[in-house]
Amino acid sequence: MASPIVDIHTHVYTPAYLDMLRARKNVPYVHDPANGADSRLIILASDDDAGTALGQRGRPVDASYSDIEVKLAFMRKHGITTSVISLANPWLDFLEVDDAQVWSEKINNDLEETCATVNKDSKSISEVKTLYAFGALPLSAPDPSIIVNEIKRLKTLSHMRGVIMGTSGLGKGLDDAGLDPVWAALEETQTILFLHPHYGLPDEAFGGPEVTQRYGHVLPLALGFPLETTIAVTRMLLSGVFDRFPNIKILLAHSGGALPFLAGRIESCIAHERKFVANGGSTQGPVRDVWTVLNTNIYLDAVVYGEAGLKAAIHAAGGHDRLLFGTDNPFFPPLSEEDATWPSVTTNYKAIEGTLSTDKEAVKAVLGGNAIRILNLN
Ligand code: URA
Ligand code: ZN
Repeated sequence: MASPIVDIHTHVYTPAYLDMLRARKNVPYVHDPANGADSRLIILASDDDAGTALGQRGRPVDASYSDIEVKLAFMRKHGITTSVISLANPWLDFLEVDDAQVWSEKINNDLEETCATVNKDSKSISEVKTLYAFGALPLSAPDPSIIVNEIKRLKTLSHMRGVIMGTSGLGKGLDDAGLDPVWAALEETQTILFLHPHYGLPDEAFGGPEVTQRYGHVLPLALGFPLETTIAVTRMLLSGVFDRFPNIKILLAHSGGALPFLAGRIESCIAHERKFVANGGSTQGPVRDVWTVLNTNIYLDAVVYGEAGLKAAIHAAGGHDRLLFGTDNPFFPPLSEEDATWPSVTTNYKAIEGTLSTDKEAVKAVLGGNAIRILNLN
């Protein structure tokens, strides 16, 4: 049998979640045009431009975002045997305090049920398709104990393999000491956290809203997303999260953004910072160095679309065995209907094969073996 190919970065908006967005009028929301055209998904602040007609805002959202049969067809088309599905951004971050717990239980139970149903129906060996999931957390809940309880409850659901989270945490970023109970629960239960961007950078970073919108989604998605992840994980490092919780496991989306490339510079800036106790100052500063954290706490997906990025990721991770294949489906669909396969997926396949071409076992590991081992998949 061919080697398994596991997609660990693949999203769904569950039908109930999309219905909830349909009932909203503020970001995030879904707009259904009266003329029967595709619904529009407006999830980024920069999508909600009052100067653009509602039917043109954001991006079209079709069945690929919520229909699991479409996901399975996508998997078959690209030779993917197993997917670890996760709710897409912005998850449950925007919910009112009283709604968070109910919604996270609902979404996570729906994901669990989807996995169970699909796996039960996997019939022939030649068409194996298996689903697992990362759960969503009730981060706006009134008390962190509600988040902790959900992390523990997810351990009792047989298809859950971790949790997905954005970079805002409880609203103040991931260096917020208020998150310590959450880090402690993740560490204690050895739950992998899939850290994924959503908020990007302020439009001002790109020259203002007019410039950002001029180029569609390129600046927020190509630069805002990866830099957001880089900043979030660097703040975790600086605040000592990896010192207080040395056994937490974090999977970084988009190969950690710019982290693999900037790790040396981050380490050097820390070593030269007079504020830090280690250099005679009064602020604690991180104890474990960036490279140790990268080699013990961090996994990187291989969603980086090129060999230069992939080489940096492999180098920073201390080898290919902490890198995991992903697609970011259903985002970045082909613009032309005729495309047999998605260029966004084949580009990542090519980058993995091109970078590790002389080592067939390494290619297999990144495409599936690492995910099977790290996420304990069957
Ligand atoms: N990929 C995602 O996961 N989310 C987006 O909004 C765009 C690309
Ligand atoms: Zn994604």
